[in-house]
Amino acid sequence: MTILALETSCDETAVAIVREGNSGSGSDLLASEVASQIAAHEKYGGIVPEIASRNHLVYAPGLLNRAAGLAKINLSEMDAFAATSGPGLASSLMIGASIAKGLAIGFSKPYLAVNHLEGHLLSPFFGNVKKENQIRPNISLIVSGGHTLLVQVQALDEYTIIGRTVDDAAGEAFDKVAKLLGLGYPGGPEIESHARGGDSHRFDLPRSMPESENFSFSGLKTAVRYLLPKIVERFCEPRKHSGLTQAPYKLDGQVLADLCASFQQAIIDVLVCKTIAAAKKYRFDLVTVSGGVSCNQELRKQLGEACTREGFEFKSAEPWLCTDNAAMIAFTALLRLQAGFQSDVTEEIDPNLALAE
Ligand code: KG4
Ligand code: ZN
Repeated sequence: MTILALETSCDETAVAIVREGNSGSGSDLLASEVASQIAAHEKYGGIVPEIASRNHLVYAPGLLNRAAGLAKINLSEMDAFAATSGPGLASSLMIGASIAKGLAIGFSKPYLAVNHLEGHLLSPFFGNVKKENQIRPNISLIVSGGHTLLVQVQALDEYTIIGRTVDDAAGEAFDKVAKLLGLGYPGGPEIESHARGGDSHRFDLPRSMPESENFSFSGLKTAVRYLLPKIVERFCEPRKHSGLTQAPYKLDGQVLADLCASFQQAIIDVLVCKTIAAAKKYRFDLVTVSGGVSCNQELRKQLGEACTREGFEFKSAEPWLCTDNAAMIAFTALLRLQAGFQSDVTEEIDPNLALAE
């Protein structure tokens, strides 16, 4: 069984082809192509939906041909077509879903509408799921630019949300703080690289809502905002920093490294603490992590170490599968098709699609 999927929920245009492994065990990736639009949106300081959807239309045909060429397969030989149907930007979702529906109708094949969050949630299992044991129960932490979710996973399509962010998502906090610091977009990788060699204890930043299963990161962002002018005044001698004394502040050297490390550690402490508490409370023995923020090496290391300490198994999505891609959508579609799910081509995209009630 071979499936082609499109992912166009935000500003990445992605196409992937995944095939069921031999004798129904696991899955093989035949192609995964991603066209980034970061450069097109950078000058506006955020994603412009109309530019994103116009670019999806420009990039998608080329990506489809490249993916089919790499996989050495014709589009007519696919067993099903899938696309992300939400959550995301309506005008972006519509492009990928319309193309997948058109292919499914044209080649008389099944269409599968896939929830982007389910794609992230299942990505730690990519390639390894044997048909007979399917998805193992786990506590799943999904941390991306748009979402921060703690989920109980019993099996495919059996999800219960335990906690979510009440304000900013973890990735959003990285992006906003990077902007305050005058660093580039996306902020997560920028902050991570500046945090290397930094002292994570130097600045005391808040860990919000410690008793709750929900998350809150906007207080942390505000704390950094109030701290910045004080840092510039106290630690930066004139001409020893890059000169900006108003937002975005342009710190450099050790002060910047220490602030990035302190901020990153505040986020990691909260994510690790709540995830471990959930695994204990709900008695799961496997913890998984996925989504763009789970590219962060320090988060992967500290969550992995905490799991080992507490006796939980730990699985993270491969770094290339953490940020938005179509391989996770194709993989989710394959598991769903194997389990007997299909969607109707009249099924509409839903920008607010939930993972579970
Ligand atoms: O999953 P994703 O590609 O898109 C959404 O579904 O939102 O996640 C993008 C987010 C961005 O906020 C980005 O700053 C963050 O993931 N991110 C990171 C790292 N790499 C990407 N955050 C922290 N450390 C990283 N290395
Ligand atoms: Zn995502």
